Amino acid sequence: MSFEKEIARRRTFGIISHPDAGKTTLTEKLLLFGGAIQEAGAVKNNKIKKTATSDFMEIERQRGISVATSVLAFIYKDKKINILDTPGHKDFAEDTFRTLTAVDSVIVVIDVAKGVEEQTKKLVEVCRMRKIPMIVFINKLDREGKDAFDLLDEVEQKLGLSVTPLSFPIGMGYDFKGIYNIYEKNINLFSGNSKSNIEDTIAFDDVSSPELDTMIGEKAAGELRDNLELVHGVYPPFDTNAYLEAQQQPVFFGSALNNFGVRELLDCFIEIAPAPRPKKAEERLVMANETDFSGFVFKIHANMDPKHRDRLAFIKIVSGTFERNKPYLHVRNKKKLKFSSPNAFFAEKKEIVDVSYPGDIVGLHDTGNFKIGDTLTNGEALNYKGIPSFSPEHFRYINNADPMKSKQLYKGIDQLMDEGVAQLFTLELNGRKVIGTVGALQYEVIQYRLEHEYGAKCTYENFPVHKACWVDAEADNDEFREFKRVKQKFLAIDKRGQLVFLADSQFSLQMTQQKYPTVKLRFTSEFE
Ligand code: G4P
Repeated sequence: MSFEKEIARRRTFGIISHPDAGKTTLTEKLLLFGGAIQEAGAVKNNKIKKTATSDFMEIERQRGISVATSVLAFIYKDKKINILDTPGHKDFAEDTFRTLTAVDSVIVVIDVAKGVEEQTKKLVEVCRMRKIPMIVFINKLDREGKDAFDLLDEVEQKLGLSVTPLSFPIGMGYDFKGIYNIYEKNINLFSGNSKSNIEDTIAFDDVSSPELDTMIGEKAAGELRDNLELVHGVYPPFDTNAYLEAQQQPVFFGSALNNFGVRELLDCFIEIAPAPRPKKAEERLVMANETDFSGFVFKIHANMDPKHRDRLAFIKIVSGTFERNKPYLHVRNKKKLKFSSPNAFFAEKKEIVDVSYPGDIVGLHDTGNFKIGDTLTNGEALNYKGIPSFSPEHFRYINNADPMKSKQLYKGIDQLMDEGVAQLFTLELNGRKVIGTVGALQYEVIQYRLEHEYGAKCTYENFPVHKACWVDAEADNDEFREFKRVKQKFLAIDKRGQLVFLADSQFSLQMTQQKYPTVKLRFTSEFE
């Protein structure tokens, strides 16, 4: 197959949702369709169970397992589909944000009863900012939930999306009869026990036909006709370009658990979802079909087994082909590196591959060369943009508890930060180190890993910070110098050497912004 065709057949995406909306179940059903797994239940272990929130070792163990499910690839109707796993657990939200830099589109799963939830809001906001094409899947239609139109409204209001339904439910919960597929103009009837089999669909392009009444009953047929009329009246027709430009989001309804509405979703997805898209580097826009290889690290997974200390760096291929044993330039280190056993991911297995294409993810064994955001190329000095850091939500001083092991401690901290476990800030005033995390759980993870992997001990001390803001330090004027002098106690340097203002309250943040209007404070580390 030609290089261009290989690119055109790839679909690399992520599924995002609030925990429990059905992301894991949907992933599994997509794999079933792709013939990549034979039975339901196979992907379950990818999930961080609710009960494990205070047991971080269990979480790490599960994260270890989830290396295998970090990327799930399968072939469906000749398309190579790469699903990138996005942890739903909020303490690992930063992992998910970073993974979103490597996807070409997303599917957002929403629970019909719960509607738009907190985590969905945050993730969709990131996708909106990055103009990632999104398809919405409203799940659990076999249960009683919110009215479909109310839910569509809620999605528009709370997520700031412009939706258009491509399927519509016939009833819901106890009365759930099936789905009318607006996109394909057919009906899929719900039999209630379709857990393991994949349903047949009935072509049905004229809903005014009396046949509909015989099929689903007069009442349901009447309701469906009214609903579809309303859909056509209220929502614009689906426009592929608007979807690709993230200006319109198609919506599907279904029940992942019952394998219902999933085929419709997948068939439409492979047709409309984008193949690998061009990506902005600091230097220029890079097209997927350029012959020279380039890619970037979006995730690093540490091996929890002390006997095999190496890490796996996940690279998204942006352009060209990645070949085994060929030297590539590690742009930040200005070093050529060769990889003798790059891993590709297929269903739940990893295997060594010779050639990978744009859109694919390769896992490279790493002994400490890589940081999140690093770029690899054929030789050109490119630096990919788009791995921002967000303000952490928790901040603590980290202290060395074993003075004999300070070297180990600093090395450990350094490497864990490269993996993106947390963020490190060094106070300008006294050089003290502050660790910022999204979830409180990471502190335990860091302490445990420092001790078991680096032989170092640490303690923490509270440091009340409300938000970290990156300071745009370009304007070196009197106001900026005054800001630096007055706020000295609250200034720190992050790991990339950027200046950060650690505001201790919302009030002080507002006051600072008012008092020093020319000092730009940003809430992510990436300035566009
Ligand atoms: P997540 O990855 O988004 O966190 O969600 P997951 O797929 O694990 O689903 C969360 C719960 O919702 C699971 O039940 C799952 O079986 C259920 N679920 C998913 N899709 C549907 C659906 O279409 N209809 C109904 N009724 N339930 C659905 P659980 O009891 O928490 O877990 P389990 O014991 O089934 O593993």
